[in-house]
Amino acid sequence: MQMQFPKDFLWGGATAANQYEGGWDEGGRGPSIDDVFTGGSVNTARRITIPPEADAFYPNHEATDFYHHWKEDIALFAEMGFKVYRMSISWSRIFPNGDDAQPNEEGLAFYDAVFDELAKYGIEPLVTLSHYENPLHLTTEYGGWKNRALIDHFVRYADTVLRRYRGKVRRWLTFNEINMLSVPFGSFIAGGMLPETCTAQDRWDAMHNQLVASARAVRLAHEIDPENQMGCMIAYMCVYPRTCSPEDQLTQLSVDRLHNLLAGDVHVRGAYPSYAERLLAEEGVTLKVSEQDAADLRAGTVDFYTFSYYDSRCVGTAQEGDPSTGNGALGGLRNPYLQATEWGWQIDPKGLRWVLNHLYDRYQIPLMVVENGLGAMDEVAPDGRIHDPYRIDYLRQHIESMREAITDGVDLIGYTPWGCIDLVSASTGEMRKRYGMIYVDKHDDGTGDLSRHRKDSFYWYQKVIATNGSDL
Ligand code: BG6
Repeated sequence: MQMQFPKDFLWGGATAANQYEGGWDEGGRGPSIDDVFTGGSVNTARRITIPPEADAFYPNHEATDFYHHWKEDIALFAEMGFKVYRMSISWSRIFPNGDDAQPNEEGLAFYDAVFDELAKYGIEPLVTLSHYENPLHLTTEYGGWKNRALIDHFVRYADTVLRRYRGKVRRWLTFNEINMLSVPFGSFIAGGMLPETCTAQDRWDAMHNQLVASARAVRLAHEIDPENQMGCMIAYMCVYPRTCSPEDQLTQLSVDRLHNLLAGDVHVRGAYPSYAERLLAEEGVTLKVSEQDAADLRAGTVDFYTFSYYDSRCVGTAQEGDPSTGNGALGGLRNPYLQATEWGWQIDPKGLRWVLNHLYDRYQIPLMVVENGLGAMDEVAPDGRIHDPYRIDYLRQHIESMREAITDGVDLIGYTPWGCIDLVSASTGEMRKRYGMIYVDKHDDGTGDLSRHRKDSFYWYQKVIATNGSDL
């Protein structure tokens, strides 16, 4: 038995303003945390430099310049057949400092034009309110998300854009990969907190503040337009037990709960799960939930659940074995059954079917895979084309897994592979770690003419969408 994709399945692609938009100091935009984040590599960590250094390179400043190429890029998305386009609004383009009294009209007008252009092609926007991008001022003046003052600033920003784009945007995500705050990697990128002084307590306080801010934004969105569909976004860092020992099963249960499930449980169920207190105590963290917070969380549960899925890793009590890298730097060990990318992310299409079933068993609300893809180096061949069979293979196998999950009975409503057009890597700041089906002529040293080129995967994905996933 093999089900097909539902006929209204949302095929598309995903980007985020911080890694794609550029125009960092144009149109009245204020600096964000990504504008003080230097380039790095798989071996060299990105540096946070406040203030910016004159001779350092900041890849997110220009990124791949959606700010000046949006018409051309949306036309290419339409040519691929996108039904949906996941993007984010740059908070500091709307409120340059995050705590300004008035929004920046030029920034608001920019996204109006983008949404109107998408509508022209019948592409539905799926908009993330906060994708790894806090106004820098909220870090330098407030210390980032551990400070509860950010809740009100975020809710005001959400209120502004929800009202402005009422009717133009119907599906929203609040915080990208909110659960990255469960690992040190998320301190700065997700929480706007300087890593050297950020404790585990700070990270979990920050996550709590974002969960409250998210719930308040969800409630507001439903009040502003009852047709708004609000989703959460979790980085699903799939974990397997290292062996069949009972201890390893329990380790897997704890890691999965702490790093993957906890935040989503709050978003979907409106309260912290019963296992939270013990797991957080083991991290040395005390959860402080006021009565008002509890009421806010209850009143702001999400309508659908979205997640990113790139890879998997093994966990267990024994530490010997090759360490695994991968999305979120969660750690763990390599799985001998899997191959890894050049960045050490283990490729595991079957894991996606496992995660989809795991989540649907738990929540029974619509699911969407809003990030997935292969970061790889591409070369322009002598014929001027970009041949990327490795990317097609990766995507094909993950789409097959999604079809299996649909056959299993999972209510999966859409798929937006990450970086459908080349953009800056979040973890390394590199350009050469490319995910796109559209190549952008931009390189790690900042050179390139920013011209756009269709890769082989562009034509392949176009066919996948045209056949609603039946011809892979
Ligand atoms: C997700 C993020 O964690 O993974 C994206 O939401 C990010 O912002 C993507 O770009 C891929 O990670 P990287 O480090 O390869 O860019």
